[in-house]
Amino acid sequence: MKRLIFILCMLLVVFLIVWLVAYIHKSPMVQNSEYQASNRDTQIVIYDIDDLEGEVAQIIPKGGFDYIRGGAGTEQTMMRNTTSFDNVDIVPRVLTGVVEPNITTTIFGTEIALPVIAAPAAAHGLAHVSAEAGTAHGVAAAGTIMSVSTYASSTLEEIARAGRGAPQWFQLYLSKDENFNRQIVKKAEDLGYKAIILTVDAPVGGNRIADLRNDFKFPLEMPNVAKKTMKTKGQGIGKIFAASKNDLSPYDVMWLKSVTKLPVIVKGIQHPDDAELAILAGADAIWVSNHGGRQLDGAPGAFEMLPEIAARINKRVPIIFDSGIRRGQHIFKAIASGADIVAIGRPVIYGLALGGWRGVVDVFDWLKKDLRRVMVLAGAYNIEDIKQTKLHPNSAGGMCEK
Ligand SMILES: Cc1cc2nc3c(=O)[nH]c(=O)nc-3n(C[C@H](O)[C@H](O)[C@H](O)COP(=O)(O)O)c2cc1C
Repeated sequence: MKRLIFILCMLLVVFLIVWLVAYIHKSPMVQNSEYQASNRDTQIVIYDIDDLEGEVAQIIPKGGFDYIRGGAGTEQTMMRNTTSFDNVDIVPRVLTGVVEPNITTTIFGTEIALPVIAAPAAAHGLAHVSAEAGTAHGVAAAGTIMSVSTYASSTLEEIARAGRGAPQWFQLYLSKDENFNRQIVKKAEDLGYKAIILTVDAPVGGNRIADLRNDFKFPLEMPNVAKKTMKTKGQGIGKIFAASKNDLSPYDVMWLKSVTKLPVIVKGIQHPDDAELAILAGADAIWVSNHGGRQLDGAPGAFEMLPEIAARINKRVPIIFDSGIRRGQHIFKAIASGADIVAIGRPVIYGLALGGWRGVVDVFDWLKKDLRRVMVLAGAYNIEDIKQTKLHPNSAGGMCEK
């Protein structure tokens, strides 16, 4: 009998040890302490923005890297975001005398050093320990606008401080809790953010296969929403999207307009009719984007829809464009197709991972250099000249002209 009790006790102890190990392994707290984002603080050498992706894969954990890099489904749309720029050509111009083109421009009265801003992206802490505060420092040093996601890893206060007075826009994912929405918009206003971006293309998360395979859970807190509306650390992206307001309609744009004096930008437009709806609801600008190919796989490359949307908007409000911008020629083609400015998502995060705030500056500096080169070769003195340029549809795409 004594022997039997002893064996049962031993089995119980073994069971408890196994359970404890499994629990600790799954605990978000442990995932957090195990997650090693980059802490680099250095200038980076860039030959081509596309090279950065492979370099970042070497230095941050696979789960975080796949979340940042990945697109939805088989990534057809994500790939087309960049390849569709090849459907039109820029006809070189000579004897123009252009040597030092002016790449500055303005948006909502704010002057920026180049027509490229940082797109809002969640969880920069996956890339670098300085998170969005580091990005904001770099973006400010580059002379352009930082867009800050609701799902940032730094607080809105930290990001505002790190921006040192440079222009910042706040991107809102509406929560189901209207009070929270009101409070966070007010907070962004009080902290000096200059516009509110309302993202409308994510009523549900895209089918991010890599994240599912990795069983990816955010290892870090999203401090601007955590505890206020939901638990964020240890959650997968699906749960986080599910917690936000997903039955969006033009009334949400009208509601946002009624609670803020800041310009409201509606982000995630891919259809001319939706651009029209957003403008009727009061949008002060339209952000043409397919979320970097992270939402609907099987959608066109974002650039393919730009001329049609620009024609419908007909300069009533400014157009911001993103998804797939990697080179000067992409910036040029987007502006020649109706965008006022463009934004970059992944390249900013890659710069941050590889060099901290200095890496972010290097990404923007490289784009400045590449855009200037394209402008010289295309005979464009300034951004207005790019807007007047007719692109040449080629046999690859046969895209319609503006
Ligand atoms: C890691 C990551 C997180 C993102 N998070 C958000 C977000 O929180 N809010 C949002 O409006 N867009 C988000 N986006 C989409 C970007 O704002 C932007 O539309 C996209 O990255 C542009 O494509 P690109 O990465 O090819 O430049 C995210 C994109 C990435 C890559």
